[in-house]
Amino acid sequence: MSPTILVTGGAGFIGSHTCVALAAAGYAPLVLDNFCNSDVRVFERLARIIGSAPRFVEGDVRDRALLDRLFAEQPIAGVIHFAGLKSVGESVSDPLAYYDNNVHGSLVLAAAMEAASVHTLIFSSSATVYGATDRLPIGEGEALQPTNPYGHSKQMVEQALADLQRSDPRWRITLLRYFNPVGAHESGLIGEHPHGKPNNLMPYVSQVAVGLRDKLAVHGGDYPTPDGTGVRDYVHVMDLAEGHVAALRHAERQAGLATLNLGTGRGTSVLEVVKAFERASGRSIAYEIGPRRTGDVPSNWADPALAQATLGWRAQRGIDQMCADSWRWQQANPRGYES
Ligand code: NAD
Ligand code: WQD
Repeated sequence: MSPTILVTGGAGFIGSHTCVALAAAGYAPLVLDNFCNSDVRVFERLARIIGSAPRFVEGDVRDRALLDRLFAEQPIAGVIHFAGLKSVGESVSDPLAYYDNNVHGSLVLAAAMEAASVHTLIFSSSATVYGATDRLPIGEGEALQPTNPYGHSKQMVEQALADLQRSDPRWRITLLRYFNPVGAHESGLIGEHPHGKPNNLMPYVSQVAVGLRDKLAVHGGDYPTPDGTGVRDYVHVMDLAEGHVAALRHAERQAGLATLNLGTGRGTSVLEVVKAFERASGRSIAYEIGPRRTGDVPSNWADPALAQATLGWRAQRGIDQMCADSWRWQQANPRGYES
């Protein structure tokens, strides 16, 4: 019998790829998603990759009665909690939506798990909790000083879950701080398709390559970095997905709280991403260097050593594969799952 893992937000970008990794590792993902930022057609694609579609329930993670029913009816061994909102800019203009969805949602879920005696939880945190720091690479012990409501919401959930674990040693909680997730499954069947104009670099670059947008605005060319553009730790979404499987395996071995960076430990500049995407796609990417974006830091990249020591996990895929896989998805699905 494959252990059932409840995957909240499992229809989304990282969640859908994690369903693939879970199925490959012998788990049965059960998705709970309200589709506020995803498309139900992802399940047809997952069926083509996995062989059968993961089971899914349409609903909200804040719906306690629904969660109680799910835990009562299904033999859920653990939970991976992706469901939440993730736009930094939107969190500034609508903070209550972020505290409600991300913080309240996580508390409702944890309370339902406690009531059902399910104690294994993997939480999607973010490198955004570190805020601005000039000490690189960033280790998990770095001070947390997020600079926006989205980041505060992640920090609050981390704190609540750490306190919960301290209150009851049966909990097996892993807080995963992702750096910059990009790429797509190598099949090109699933990937990221933001609604409207992308905020993030990789989807923007791939939309320029496919002809949906004219040119990339590079946010700042005067940073103290080798080429003047911002440097980030891009991590392939399938590496992240496999990191979640490694975290589940770890939780099966050991109770407690683990807080881990998931990144590659390598920084790549905006212009290096543009060049790698040009190589992968064979297209030229028009860009223009403009002003810095408010709130951006010059550089950040992870120290991934603790994840390697704890989980035996390290990122395997480099920037060329991230771009090649993003391009395969983008080219085959220029309008996402509508294509
Ligand atoms: P995504 O928006 O593609 O996926 C989130 C999924 O959760 C979507 O399918 C959405 O419909 C669902 N959802 C949102 N609120 C819900 C609710 N209340 N109930 C049920 N379902 C709900 O985002 P993603 O990129 O896959 O991110 C997944 C998680 O990882 C998020 O918590 C995000 O904050 C975190 N994270 C993402 C990044 C990134 O850059 N993508 C980086 C660090 C952390
Ligand atoms: C990367 C680099 C930009 C767009 C964000 C969130 C973070 C996390 C990951 C969720 C920067 C530059 C970007 C563009 C550009 N998400 N850029 N032109 O800002 O590192 O992180 O996503 O947790 O919380 O803040 O990622 O992809 O937006 O930017 O020049 O059109 O690309 O300035 O240097 P970021 P990003």
